[in-house]
Amino acid sequence: MRPAQLRPAQRAVAAAPFHAMAFSQRARELEAQGHRVVSLSLGEPDFGAPASVRQAMCDAMDGQPLPYTSAMGLPALREAISGFYRDRHGVEIDPARIAITSGASGALLLATAATVDPGDEVILADPCYPCNRELVTSFGGTVVLIPTSAATRYQLDAESVERAWSPRTRGVMVATPSNPTGTSIPFSQLAAICDLARAREAWRIVDEIYLELSDPAPDGTPARTVVETDPDAIVISSFSKYFGMTGWRLGWAILPESLVPAAERLAMNYFLSASNPAQQAALACFTPATLEVCEQRRQELLARRRLVLDGLDRIGLPVPVTPDGAFYVYIDVTGTGLDAWQFCEQALDRAKVALTPGRDFGPATAGSHVRLSYAALPRGAGRGDRAPRRLPVRAGDRAHIVAVPRHESPDRRPLKGSGTTWQQRRVMTPPSTTGPSSTPAPRPGGATAGSTWRSSAAPGWASPPW
Ligand SMILES: Cc1ncc(COP(=O)(O)O)c(C=O)c1O
Repeated sequence: MRPAQLRPAQRAVAAAPFHAMAFSQRARELEAQGHRVVSLSLGEPDFGAPASVRQAMCDAMDGQPLPYTSAMGLPALREAISGFYRDRHGVEIDPARIAITSGASGALLLATAATVDPGDEVILADPCYPCNRELVTSFGGTVVLIPTSAATRYQLDAESVERAWSPRTRGVMVATPSNPTGTSIPFSQLAAICDLARAREAWRIVDEIYLELSDPAPDGTPARTVVETDPDAIVISSFSKYFGMTGWRLGWAILPESLVPAAERLAMNYFLSASNPAQQAALACFTPATLEVCEQRRQELLARRRLVLDGLDRIGLPVPVTPDGAFYVYIDVTGTGLDAWQFCEQALDRAKVALTPGRDFGPATAGSHVRLSYAALPRGAGRGDRAPRRLPVRAGDRAHIVAVPRHESPDRRPLKGSGTTWQQRRVMTPPSTTGPSSTPAPRPGGATAGSTWRSSAAPGWASPPW
């Protein structure tokens, strides 16, 4: 008897893959062929967990039974997180409102599962972190994407949220600083959006996974958490980025009191608990010595950001908004005459630099922007690396340059990639004079056909320092 053709659920069929995976795959192929690929595509700091946390993990693993913890997490860890918000941000959060989850991903899953019903609309910025769209649609919600531009730092503002509002709006999701742009929403705008949504009885889900990697205010005070202005917002955070613990799968959500019982029921059913040893080890994150290590790493990331911005400036690739956090730079490549996908293909095949095209982050900047992550900038970048790595920098009849050492024969097989589709209602915003919409559209088919490939920089052009 032939096995029955089982069909996956519609939500699984509809889920969009990460287009960036095509580039990771291609980068691996190139490395297997002996090329040294500079990977500027992953949102994963190369520091790893601080030594004290690794030691705490060894201790936790040493002969203990390690049963499930309670679904909301180890009480001691919830208290430590609450203490961290008190010490660093001056806000009081009842540890009972903190749910320990499997990364910020688990917190986002919990938050959307607890708040989105079929037919509900949730407002998000375009570009945004791709998983949020998938989570909302998984629960039958409709994603309302508001195209943003450099004028609003690629973030939502209260005016555009108000315009996008409909009787079915049930929530607004914000990530600040954002992935892919590394830009924060001005605190007054965040407060205005939260006020608006709260007045209309809608959820505010604010992803602060990169908050501790934000630049402090000029007087040295840390970037502000949404809790200061909206104590009942749902806050998402994680040990992945600031503490360098991506693979440990540990994060948290701060929930309004009214949502705690529902979130706890869902957490029980979805996860039972987050990893017990990871939770025990994470207690070591909040000692002054470990926090000092993390602060030094933030400084190192800031130095990398300066290096990258300086390099991009020298080769004339515009970054329309200077980031103020995370470890991303969002580059407008329209001036090169290539679309973002072609730019990334050429950067990888010719310069052996892996970047992420805007397509993953939403339609507004899909063709025009490319994300560069400096989370794992190779050691000695700009110093010891003698291979010329030049990115395509300028549109024109001849000058589409990605230089590689002359002897390398470029393999120009196109990468697999399909158009992004997701259930959505797009909201049009008035044209901006400073945003990507004001930059010239890429030439149809890009600039690859017939363009001249050169292996040395044109006068006045410089290689970026990686
Ligand atoms: C904005 C944002 N939210 C959430 C996540 C998920 O992070 P985690 O590793 O904590 O699940 C990421 C990961 O890159 C992210 O960029």
